[in-house]
Amino acid sequence: MPPAEERPLVIAVDGPAAAGKGTLARRLAAHYGLRHLDTGLLYRAVALRLLRQKGEPGQAEAAAAQARAVTDADLADPALRDEAVGEAASALAVHGAVREALLDYQRAFAARPPGAVLDGRDIGTVVCPDAQVKIYLEASVAVRAARRLCELRSRGVESIESRVLDEIKARDARDSRRSAAPLKPAADACRIDTTALGPDEVFERAAAIVDARLPSP
Ligand code: DC
Repeated sequence: MPPAEERPLVIAVDGPAAAGKGTLARRLAAHYGLRHLDTGLLYRAVALRLLRQKGEPGQAEAAAAQARAVTDADLADPALRDEAVGEAASALAVHGAVREALLDYQRAFAARPPGAVLDGRDIGTVVCPDAQVKIYLEASVAVRAARRLCELRSRGVESIESRVLDEIKARDARDSRRSAAPLKPAADACRIDTTALGPDEVFERAAAIVDARLPSP
């Protein structure tokens, strides 16, 4: 592998549901002129394909077959944002065969110049362990549930706060307790607790971390 300064810049942004990964990753990509991949969309695309085929997230081989068939076009479907699709994505993400099938897509995306910001759960630990910058976002479960509720309402989806909170807790438990690539910070990740921070403050802290890693001009 070429030295870090000769490789395309890769920024890994990991963390639990509704910690602010997408917002931060989009801003970092725009600021540093990098491409952005929301890797949750890949798992959601597998889930949507499977559900449309009347498959169940528990069926590892059927889910892996859908993972091998995912294309760029699948990532643009507005139905990917449905809560039921997110739930099914979390359920099928426990299968090692599904994760394996999505690895090449993610690594090829990261390797293409000028580089990329990837957000997900296992970018810094498994997908891009050599990423030059690794950021792990966390926030209290209550704040994450409140943010998710706001986002759902802004999309016109009426939801009950206690249900959103229970769903986030269940998602946290499943994503972090699975044996295949569980959600956890990489040993060399910089952690940012976004509980009391707005999007601008999160971006400023993250950009300071990236700037400190960039080779000096
Ligand atoms: O980030 P999200 O809510 O769109 O992701 C949906 C699910 O996909 C998430 O609960 C777990 C899974 N996922 C994963 O296992 N690894 C990733 N890198 C991204 C998402």
